[in-house]
Amino acid sequence: MVAANSFDVLIIGSGAAGLSLALRLPSHLSVAILAKSSLDEGCTLYAQGGISAVTQAPDTFESHIADTLDAGASLNNPETVRFTIERAPEVIQWLVDLGVPFTRTKDEFHLTQEGGHSTRRVLHAADATGRVMETTLLDEARKRSNINLMEHYIAIDLITGSKLGLEHNRCLGAYILNRNEQRILACSARNVVLATGGASKVYLYTSNPDTNTGDGIAMAWRAGCRVANMEFNQFHPTCLYHPKAKSFLVTEAVRGEGGRLLLSDGTPFMERFDDRGDLAPRDIVARAIDHEMKRLGEEFVLLDISHKPAPFIKEHFPTVYTRCRELGYDMTLEPIPVVPAAHYTCGGVMTDLHGQTDIAGLYAIGEVACTGMHGANRMASNSLLECLVFARAASEHITATLADTPEPVALPPWDESRVRDSDEEVVVSHNWDELRRCMWNYVGIVRTDKRLQRAWRRVDLLQQEIQEYYSNFTVSNDLLELRNLAEVAALIIRSAQQRKESRGLHFTLDYPETDNSKPPTDTILTPGNQQPVKLAV
Ligand code: FAD
Ligand code: SIN
Repeated sequence: MVAANSFDVLIIGSGAAGLSLALRLPSHLSVAILAKSSLDEGCTLYAQGGISAVTQAPDTFESHIADTLDAGASLNNPETVRFTIERAPEVIQWLVDLGVPFTRTKDEFHLTQEGGHSTRRVLHAADATGRVMETTLLDEARKRSNINLMEHYIAIDLITGSKLGLEHNRCLGAYILNRNEQRILACSARNVVLATGGASKVYLYTSNPDTNTGDGIAMAWRAGCRVANMEFNQFHPTCLYHPKAKSFLVTEAVRGEGGRLLLSDGTPFMERFDDRGDLAPRDIVARAIDHEMKRLGEEFVLLDISHKPAPFIKEHFPTVYTRCRELGYDMTLEPIPVVPAAHYTCGGVMTDLHGQTDIAGLYAIGEVACTGMHGANRMASNSLLECLVFARAASEHITATLADTPEPVALPPWDESRVRDSDEEVVVSHNWDELRRCMWNYVGIVRTDKRLQRAWRRVDLLQQEIQEYYSNFTVSNDLLELRNLAEVAALIIRSAQQRKESRGLHFTLDYPETDNSKPPTDTILTPGNQQPVKLAV
């Protein structure tokens, strides 16, 4: 058992963060990568706009740093921001060497622009940057014999020394559900890396795929890690408004290339909210749209790039153009309806510059982590960059410390002796819906103390019900995700309740101003009594 499910490095997640870490690790290490769905599914696959990096004069690191701090409402950790941005050219070269086909004009990268960037600095592959990155990284991983790709395996919980009652607290592995066989394995590893992405599925309307249910944040929290800045949920301003679109994203690069946001009567409105107009940072644009929709009682606003030549639109935005056409809109001829939707989790598991969490042997990289890069609002296209830079940093740290890292240990098997098969799956689907609706209505773009209190009461009750269900019935994928979503919802609400000001993505009518009377502080939550887990110990 231990030999079969035992690795030097267990990476939970096969997006940009997890795959690039695996590819950066030395080939003599045995590596497992888990994906709870198909290997390519996750936010990375859907990334459109691109990846930000300073690659051409006159752009400078200082300018990229200043824009990132400004977008992040100065809550970012300046050291992390510099660390990430100065490493961008190296990771871009690494991607190019692997064969990622960034769009070029003659010998240079074509650079697009997005909200918050004071200049063009976003590399992209038309509007399918994430797709080409994910497929290139995955193809490369498939070629490496030391990398075990484990598709349809969902991690349930981390196994730590303290959970096993050992003297030394270290991450020792994880319990994993093989979804195809409905069998639970204990997987041991010298190092475990959370690369599970964000938690935007906690909201009813989101740009994210089904995989992004905050599992890594919830698992780390239950294992005893601190989490930070969970109140900063980013809402992307422009998701297509259509019953069949399922929150299809319309990249911010459309505005970067001249697209305008309009009210239904054709009036532009963003200049009323910010001097940067349509290219203000995302928090400002999403809030302005929300404000205008509520003021006018409208269901959406319009995004118009039809004044640009049709061949230009089709060449730069083939994904968006095609999807819009499928749904009956021709963006070369007419404005398209858009609404904000939950998009990105700025907070997460606290890490240092190596991606190390509070628990030895446990790393967190990519959207699951809170490194200090994004502060109170992530700037567009800084996420893929952070994934790649921290994958490299974590790989270097894992490699450098391997000689002192204990060998994998034998782990107790999962205990199913006290559970039976569920008799009422409807409880899970009902609670999924209730939770996400409650978060959308009470913990969304505009908050108040009263709404947060209301949300807290409901989420607290849901958590009790879910815990009872979890303790009595055999686990399923939906139940595991629901349990994690509820955990993350509680963390978001608690963090939002602690911040008595508006800053970046956290806007509350009770404290509408940013508190500039003192230096801004992170909202750090520290686990208290850990939740009961089903360990056979
Ligand atoms: P993901 O790519 O989300 O991958 C998560 C992985 O974890 C998946 O493999 C999933 O199966 C696995 N997983 C999760 N939980 C478990 C579990 N319990 N057990 C096993 N496996 C698990 N950012 C940019 O910088 N530029 C962009 O242009 C851009 N565009 C975007 C467009 C869209 C529509 C979306 C949704 C996001 C966009 N972002 C963009 C954000 C960016 O794509 C993500 O932040 C980034 O890709 C996250 O990468 P990741 O590796 O951390 O996680
Ligand atoms: C987009 O293309 O608008 C998304 C970019 C991002 O989330 O960084």
